[in-house]
Amino acid sequence: MQTIPLGVSLLRTSRLAYGCWRVAGTWNPGEVTDASREAGRRAIIAAYEAGYTLFDTADIYCHGESERILGEVLKQVSGMRDRIIVLTKGGIRPAGDPQPDSPGRYDFSSSHLINACEQSLRRLGIETVDIYMLHRPDLLAEPEEVAQAFTQLKAAGKVRCFGVSNFRPTLVTALQAACPMPLIAHQVEISLAKLDAFTDGTLDQCLIEHITPMAWSPLAGGLIGDGANRLLPSQECYRPEGFLPALDAVAKARGASRTVVALSWLLKHPANIQPIIGTINPDRIREAAKAADLELTREEWYRLLIAARGEPMP
Ligand SMILES: NC(=O)c1ccc[n+]([C@@H]2O[C@H](COP(=O)([O-])OP(=O)(O)OC[C@H]3O[C@@H](n4cnc5c(N)ncnc54)[C@H](OP(=O)(O)O)[C@@H]3O)[C@@H](O)[C@H]2O)c1
Repeated sequence: MQTIPLGVSLLRTSRLAYGCWRVAGTWNPGEVTDASREAGRRAIIAAYEAGYTLFDTADIYCHGESERILGEVLKQVSGMRDRIIVLTKGGIRPAGDPQPDSPGRYDFSSSHLINACEQSLRRLGIETVDIYMLHRPDLLAEPEEVAQAFTQLKAAGKVRCFGVSNFRPTLVTALQAACPMPLIAHQVEISLAKLDAFTDGTLDQCLIEHITPMAWSPLAGGLIGDGANRLLPSQECYRPEGFLPALDAVAKARGASRTVVALSWLLKHPANIQPIIGTINPDRIREAAKAADLELTREEWYRLLIAARGEPMP
């Protein structure tokens, strides 16, 4: 697969990334079975063999099971750890942590971030995570305190580079001003069903600051595909029916699948959006990789944008 640089860092990654959110086959750690773990490992190996070199996970994915399954694969597949970029995220504390009545919340205190990152490394079974990301903005975060935690994690050799997820551009600026190291990636939801990043300043900032934008749910959790298994509550209102006919028309004209066209639509943006593929079906993982070889025309791109907006350009 083609590669792109990650932000201003020396890291390079495959054009598309693989996301490990769903690899346990459930959100509930109590429901993970030997068979679902094995299916998850097979999906990760299929992605590696198809040329994906960035693997995205987070401490909260199935309460750490996603990180453990990725760690099992890294142990199983000789040489894989040195050839891939491992990205994990922290900063979200689920309800019940540490007291039964503690609310679900965000915590960028230095002690929490350092402890969360160390726990992630333990579950992944590795010494260093390549990119450590703040998962969702903590409204009480002190940028200087976050910068301190980052500095400590980097000095200890536990993290190579840092990024953020689901931030407003102004908050990225505030954090970057306090951090001695560059923030190299920003993970947000982007797809034909979720266009905000194109107009809310996120992609503009990525262009200006050379931050790599990563698109989560690039197929709207499966709605732009063969249907969704599990959607986030925020995705339940999506109505892709309005743009699917236009997508299918471009797919037919180009002899490609609907999903490949939807992903190559993201790839065309000049900020070098990196879609994070979430299917655990090995055939679909390989199919998605073909998007790296399809270049849409400007006309096709706008035709799809207009269909997704549901109205002509102003
Ligand atoms: N930073 C954040 O806040 C955040 C939030 C959410 C996700 N993420 C990251 O983004 C990654 C991707 O998110 P996502 O899983 O929602 O992405 P997605 O690629 O939009 O959706 C994947 C889902 O679509 C289904 N699907 C149906 N038809 C498909 C087809 N033809 N091709 C491919 N998939 C099809 C898959 O089911 P099958 O598995 O049955 O194929 C799977 O359940 C996650 O793994 C995670 O790493 C980050």
